[in-house]
Amino acid sequence: MEIVDRLTQISPSATLASAEKAARLVAQGLDVIDLGQGLPDFSTPKNICNAGITAISEGHTRYTANSGLPELRDAIAERYGTLYGVEYDRSETIITCGGKHALYSAFQALVEDGDEVIIPTPYWVSFPAQVRIAGGQPVFVGTREEDDFIVNAQDIDDACSEKTKAIILNTPSNPSGAVIPSSVLKDIGRIAIDRDLVIVVDETYDQFLYEGATHSSPLGLGSEAKPVTLSIGSCSKTWAMTGWRIGWATGPRKLIGSMSRLQSHLTSNPTSISQWAAVEALTGDQSAVADMLAAFSERREVVLKQLRSMPGVTCGQPMGSFYAFPNVSGTFNNRITTSDDLATYLIDEAQVVTVPGSAFGRDGFLRVSFAVEINRLQEALHRISEALSAIVV
Ligand SMILES: Cc1ncc(COP(=O)(O)O)c(C=O)c1O
Repeated sequence: MEIVDRLTQISPSATLASAEKAARLVAQGLDVIDLGQGLPDFSTPKNICNAGITAISEGHTRYTANSGLPELRDAIAERYGTLYGVEYDRSETIITCGGKHALYSAFQALVEDGDEVIIPTPYWVSFPAQVRIAGGQPVFVGTREEDDFIVNAQDIDDACSEKTKAIILNTPSNPSGAVIPSSVLKDIGRIAIDRDLVIVVDETYDQFLYEGATHSSPLGLGSEAKPVTLSIGSCSKTWAMTGWRIGWATGPRKLIGSMSRLQSHLTSNPTSISQWAAVEALTGDQSAVADMLAAFSERREVVLKQLRSMPGVTCGQPMGSFYAFPNVSGTFNNRITTSDDLATYLIDEAQVVTVPGSAFGRDGFLRVSFAVEINRLQEALHRISEALSAIVV
């Protein structure tokens, strides 16, 4: 049996692999602390769970409309209208099995064999994989640590070619926590309009912002940006709903229509029960989101202070998401020469799991999640510090 090249070239998601590794070590009885995880450590808020339970007891257990429940699509359309003053209706929105599935369908709809898609680094692990699965070619654009990993619009323009079809932006960023300012998004919006490209904006972490940072979109340009912007969102992180698998895309009707046709042959629709729970998530009480944000803010302070005090480590200021992305290249020696080596060393010596920067296209860094209970987080940071003191002279 021969497996197609497209898939043999794809390695499994490095972040899921690190979570599995942590689970294996815990099963062996080791006291492992997982700072590699990319999900809130909170349970789904009660009101949302109850909406799921009600959906079951009221018999909402059949297929839903292919593109999602009208109630949910309307709630999403309204959200973008309110946020950016750009009108959307139901037909410009699709509900998907997580944000990951929305991105997958988008690249299937946009990318022909050999087309190029611009991806700033560091990137979320699945962006290049999904572009490649669609037959496309990722074109990486580096960002600078001294710019807090905020992408430069001119660098994006310079990377465009005749083959460029789309630009992926992820704000706030996983893994760097960078929040792209409105002015830069507007500049990139203009590039997309001039070059007839689509900007795929992944806003999975848009509710987790610190120190007064604000979230923006190319839609800040107004309705002129609407034909070139596909916004991707997710219930997973905002409402601690990773297992419910609900995400969405909002954008040009033609693109959403193609994604819906594809979905009709793949999943038919996302789970009916989860969609009813998501209606409550979007339209119900939001106090749980504020509580999570307060907890993340407190932990972020602890993480930044501790990381910056460690030998060989420097760390910028993540303004969003729930990750720090410290530069650890100052800890390298003749035995530990990459972030992969360091992540392995930290598991072996400190029983702490982190994700090496190489998984995000930037060796020399580690991704440290602060979606972890504060006492465990402090313990993990203490262990990392001790382990580093043993190798940094
Ligand atoms: C940047 C980013 N986009 C999308 C996703 C996908 O989330 P989900 O498929 O659970 O909605 C994740 C999950 O880690 C993410 O970090």
